Amino acid sequence: MTGKAKTGKPSRIRVGMLTSGGDCQALNATMRGVAKTLYNAYESVDIIGFRDGYRGLMYEDYRRMLKSDFSGLLTRGGTMLGTSRQPFKQMRVPDAEGNNKVELMKATYHKLGLDCLCVLGGNGSQKTANLLREEGLNIVSLPKTIDNDLYGTDETFGFQSAVEVAATAIDCIHTTAASHGRVFIVEVMGHKVGWLTLYAGIAGGADIILIPEIPYDINIVVSALKKRERAGKRFSIIAVAEGAVSKETAALGKRAQKEKAAKRKYPSVAYEIGAEISKITGQEVRVTVPGHTQRGGAPTPYDRVLSTRLGVRAARLIEEGRFGRMVVLKNNEVTSIPLEDSAGKLKTVDPNASIVEEARLLGLSFGDR
Ligand code: F6P
Repeated sequence: MTGKAKTGKPSRIRVGMLTSGGDCQALNATMRGVAKTLYNAYESVDIIGFRDGYRGLMYEDYRRMLKSDFSGLLTRGGTMLGTSRQPFKQMRVPDAEGNNKVELMKATYHKLGLDCLCVLGGNGSQKTANLLREEGLNIVSLPKTIDNDLYGTDETFGFQSAVEVAATAIDCIHTTAASHGRVFIVEVMGHKVGWLTLYAGIAGGADIILIPEIPYDINIVVSALKKRERAGKRFSIIAVAEGAVSKETAALGKRAQKEKAAKRKYPSVAYEIGAEISKITGQEVRVTVPGHTQRGGAPTPYDRVLSTRLGVRAARLIEEGRFGRMVVLKNNEVTSIPLEDSAGKLKTVDPNASIVEEARLLGLSFGDR
């Protein structure tokens, strides 16, 4: 960063940018927001795009971005920089060549003379961003993930686009479920939290929603299905979060839970629940897993707006030299919080939240009571 040029604009800035962890919609739109704002604010802007997230930063795999690289991105899904998973837990473990990964990243940062590193990432990536901050690098981060589980922000970009895809999957199941009079289970992503399933389940008109924050009892799930049958309903749709757990499992310690999951006979929780329902009721159950389609395709207009706003504010933080912060959405205002206030904390669904109560009042079952 240097002083002001004749135009009144600061003269120069050099920013590194990377996208890390699972991709999502609106990563490109977010980078566009950051870049366009920087190009407007500075006389000269150098953006270094690291390939495949922190891997590119470790191994000096990058490209110098052109202004034109940031055009036409608003609707483009995925990430133009590529991404990879570099688990936080492994950051202090030497790489295959015995190199210290954190030192490699710091060396690249300093070698390129970066003024700041802009990180677009979810939970694990934010922890690494915070680690790099502790190591003295200037970091500005942006909250990415379809899971919406980043602490400190009301919403992450990617979430609403994934809700759209998952809800559309449930919509499509509706017509076939109605025709056959079957029980259908749609397994929704979301890692260890139920945000995506809760929103997609309500939006798609699911009858039962099972999320990790509200452990289920299979007999109560079956009772809810029977209640629908008695009410003359020919079919039922259950939206199951990939991280959903039974009350029995939830009562176990973390380690025992992991061991139990490793021994599971089924590909995922939805199949296990399907088999249990079939066994108890003798009913035909079908399972649909939209999987990675939920992270794919164009961002919704909502996410385009959110990611643009977050991107613009991230650029403003860089201009103001306010590093070590993550931009967040709070009560529809974009602001920022210290990275250490969010890193390592999970934002889960509160089982007593009004949205859960509203769903219950509507007649939805969470399989718990
Ligand atoms: O964090 C985003 C997410 O899509 C989760 O919902 C899911 O559990 C996970 O990533 C899948 O990861 P991967 O793409 O590495 O299989």
